[in-house]
Amino acid sequence: MKCFQVYLIVACVAVIASCQSTVKQTKDMTNGGRKWWKEAVVYQIYPRSFKDSNGDGVGDLSGLTSKLDYVKSLGVDIIWLNPIYASPNADNGYDISNYDEIMKEFGSMADFDTMLSEMHKRGLKLVMDLVVNHCSDEHEWFRQSRSSRTNPYRDYFHWWPAEKGKPAFRPGSFEVDGSGWRYDSLTNSYYLHYFSYKQPDLNWENPKLRQEIFAMMNRWFKKGVDGFRMDVIPFIAKDTTFPVVTEKELKEKYNGDWSQYMASGPGLHSYLQEMNREVTSKYDVMTLAEGAGTTKATAMNLVDPARKELDMSYHFEGVSLGYLPGEFKQMDPNGYKLTEFKKIYSEWDSVFAEKGWGTIYLGNHDQPRMLTRWGNDAPEFRVASSKLLSTFLLSMRGTPFYYFGDELGMSNIKFDKIEDYKDIETLGMYGQIKNNGGDLQRFLNGQKISARDNGRTPFQWDASVYAGFTTGDPWLKVNDNKATVNVEAAEKDPQSTLNYFRKLVQLRKDRKDVLVYGKYTLLDKDNPDVYAYLRDSGTEKVLVLLCFNKNGATFDLKGMKTGAEWINNLGPLKISGDQVQLQPYQACIVQLK
Ligand code: GLC
Ligand code: CA
Repeated sequence: MKCFQVYLIVACVAVIASCQSTVKQTKDMTNGGRKWWKEAVVYQIYPRSFKDSNGDGVGDLSGLTSKLDYVKSLGVDIIWLNPIYASPNADNGYDISNYDEIMKEFGSMADFDTMLSEMHKRGLKLVMDLVVNHCSDEHEWFRQSRSSRTNPYRDYFHWWPAEKGKPAFRPGSFEVDGSGWRYDSLTNSYYLHYFSYKQPDLNWENPKLRQEIFAMMNRWFKKGVDGFRMDVIPFIAKDTTFPVVTEKELKEKYNGDWSQYMASGPGLHSYLQEMNREVTSKYDVMTLAEGAGTTKATAMNLVDPARKELDMSYHFEGVSLGYLPGEFKQMDPNGYKLTEFKKIYSEWDSVFAEKGWGTIYLGNHDQPRMLTRWGNDAPEFRVASSKLLSTFLLSMRGTPFYYFGDELGMSNIKFDKIEDYKDIETLGMYGQIKNNGGDLQRFLNGQKISARDNGRTPFQWDASVYAGFTTGDPWLKVNDNKATVNVEAAEKDPQSTLNYFRKLVQLRKDRKDVLVYGKYTLLDKDNPDVYAYLRDSGTEKVLVLLCFNKNGATFDLKGMKTGAEWINNLGPLKISGDQVQLQPYQACIVQLK
């Protein structure tokens, strides 16, 4: 008996010691702990364009609820919905007139409650869009605020009395005159709007305003939503003396970029810490900054867990690559360089290598379709290149934000005429160019690649006249390629982009130690055609090979020994010696021995 006890003690000590030594050997790869939102795949739905249930041509919440089984079938965990609050829709819901009501076109609060409970029943979480840099000029706060200089809501917004002269320039993104100030004769004052004049900026210096916002967020969390994506959140803090910003200062301090200036206001981090204290720390929820104007040097300040602000942020450096400077979203005719692309994503990975957590995306409602922009939408390359881009998104470190329709390989609609566009951004830029006597045809050609409406066309369920999206007249035209690019066809084809995406999502889950948390290392950085990287969990290592060239390319393994191919969009790799011969747009995740 005694002997047995001694044996037990010895055995326990040995087990504890060996645990400690493995802990020592394998460094924590989880950047401060495993979290559901680090392991999740987020699926973004633009509700206006997903599914219309009542034939008015506009997607709605009941339509969305009716398609939740489809969303669940993808294997994704979280749905991010663009704004669904009451709104006059100057900027498709990014101009909110009541934060506690549902947009009439989208349905009622009862429809929302049903939708949320149907999501939760299926194990899907809901992340809402939080738009609190600005609201709508039709919001009650603004109606009050503009009514007189002494109204209690006056300080909910930024006013500049006209007797002080014209305020210093600030950009107003969607305005034909480019100005972020609008004169209001009612009180002989200008008000600030970083976007359109229908989107007056809220004054976060006012503690009452902050309390209203926090209370509103608490109400949504009490309803059960699982997080917020925070629209242009770095812009909430401003230098409210509104000093003149000279060209020289803009260049020297903000790299000539107004959004960097706008993201550098005093008070930002204290507001976010207050939000964390008053709201988000009370729930197990996810927060994501739309990191407009943030840089590699400043992004960590939003997401460093020790600072208690937000969980994740997304940057714009990747999606901004390849545009000509000084023009409205005009692509460089030579395209973009893959070496630059690799550099950007690798540098951003290193920002969050030790702490914090990044995200990865190529498409969203502010971007054209990823296939057209980053892959190749020619019929012969559509399937392969869209699978390649999905492989990239699902094999990088950082939470993937995947845009609805990309799993089908949807592509840009490429409107010919300005009349087809509905987006305030395109219409505003067109107006500015027209006023300045610029080249409108050049602009329209550019928009075929870069316009936001390309990413907003109705989702393609089937080959019918409106793609099964609506029985009425759709609010934005349906892409003709719905004839072949649609859910119904993709479901029947085991090789479809849709089924490939499902496999990728499953793979990321099954292999999360390496695919979610594993260390990322770029290989062969100067290779102009192949994006290759390692993911390494400490116990398992994989090589990701992505051939971005339409003629194929080679990759040198330099002695690395490949094992099982976890996924491959074009059949097994052709390897002879150390040389891998990759086919056009081939993508593969292969284990290393
Ligand atoms: C964000 C949104 C965009 C909107 C803008 C103004 O960038 O993603 O769609 O137009 O903010 O709210
Ligand atoms: Ca509808």
